[in-house]
Amino acid sequence: MTTDSAIPDSFSVSCIVRGALLTPLPGAGDAVRWEPDGALAIGSDGRILASGSANEILGRFPGAAVDDFSGRLILPAFVDAHLHFPQLDIIGSLGDSLLEWLENSALPAELRMTDSRYTEIAAHILIQTLLTHGIATAVIYSSSHTDATRTLFAEAERSGMRALIGKVSMDRHAPAALLSDADRDVEQTARLIEKWHQRTPLLHYVVTPRFAPCCSDELLRGCGEWLRSHPDLRLQTHFAETRAECDWVRELFPHDRDYLAVYERCGLLGPRTILGHAIQIDAAIAERIAESGAAVAHCPSSNLFLGSGLIPLELLEKFNVRVGLGSDIGAGTSVSMWRTMLAAYQVQRLRGRALSPGRLLKMATWQGARALGLEQETGALIPGLFADFQVIDWQRHPLLKRRMEQGAVDADAVISALIAHADDRVTEEVRVLNRPIWQQPVNG
Ligand code: GUN
Ligand code: ZN
Repeated sequence: MTTDSAIPDSFSVSCIVRGALLTPLPGAGDAVRWEPDGALAIGSDGRILASGSANEILGRFPGAAVDDFSGRLILPAFVDAHLHFPQLDIIGSLGDSLLEWLENSALPAELRMTDSRYTEIAAHILIQTLLTHGIATAVIYSSSHTDATRTLFAEAERSGMRALIGKVSMDRHAPAALLSDADRDVEQTARLIEKWHQRTPLLHYVVTPRFAPCCSDELLRGCGEWLRSHPDLRLQTHFAETRAECDWVRELFPHDRDYLAVYERCGLLGPRTILGHAIQIDAAIAERIAESGAAVAHCPSSNLFLGSGLIPLELLEKFNVRVGLGSDIGAGTSVSMWRTMLAAYQVQRLRGRALSPGRLLKMATWQGARALGLEQETGALIPGLFADFQVIDWQRHPLLKRRMEQGAVDADAVISALIAHADDRVTEEVRVLNRPIWQQPVNG
């Protein structure tokens, strides 16, 4: 029984959504709920009021309109906890490890973001690409330009998705056209926050110092000050992705005991902080991350592509650090969270572990929401959360169809088949607050 019995049956149900429900469950375990003929009762505010078998829900709310997705899967929409807007067109730039790749590929790409026609088209394509892949919540590094960041916010607002976006702050070790000194950065950030932060309940500004090597002490402290003075702002940065990066931080900040200490001293760490990568860590660092309350965005396809390293996920789990999953395009090789889950699985295989299908799905949905502090809103199809979901028509993919018809009948088998085969072809519809924000074109 998955219905929330606290909700009176007479409560205004605006619609029932019927289909094969597959959702992770909050809490520590890997368990998922699988209802092959399931239904959600959804209120007029877009929140899920009840979930269960179709029989149970249809019987309990007679007369409610039914959106019938029978024969299709209904899953929580994905949460991509880390990606880069300006890197859309450099995915798959082969040949370099992190610091060289930044110099040769990523930073040159960011120089293009002053061209308003280019950024408008890129923002549109990026957001549509996220939606076609079932991603309805994304945490996005823009470039260091206010105009490009505005363009991205405007596109995200038009789309109806949940978007957490930040202008990248940096004042050294990048081309001069990408730098702002600490004072100018404060002004630019203030203007963006004023215009876009919580302009709708779906939009959030994220303070975004790129990483310690591109930021002076003063700039980092300025970013920490935003976090301290605005209790509803989040902060994202990169941390301990490669050994060479860690060595560079040691050279640049000789008075700090280690990389994390730089962020601690500058006030960058807290429960609203999302650290990208966190690969080069030991138990003591994992424990300090946990004590600060910061979350980690694990970006496995990026880590494999750049050869950055294999994250010791068990250390983060040991200390209960919240961990979401990020595509990290353009170092990441695919926008798809299915491919990102596959990469997460492969990374842990190389460390001698096997993540369960339920764990992988949870990382791409509810754990992501939790890492962003949005676990009361999105990430699972359970009463009380908003109806942010994706409808998957597995028949649109020949191999997936064969696999499902050959007996993918339990949750683990279905998730495994999806991780192997699902792509944007199979996304039929994406909803946020039960509002359709993307639909597969007819004959698409
Ligand atoms: N570290 C600093 N900047 C970046 C970036 O753009 N991508 C990745 N993967 N790591 C970074
Ligand atoms: Zn990144």
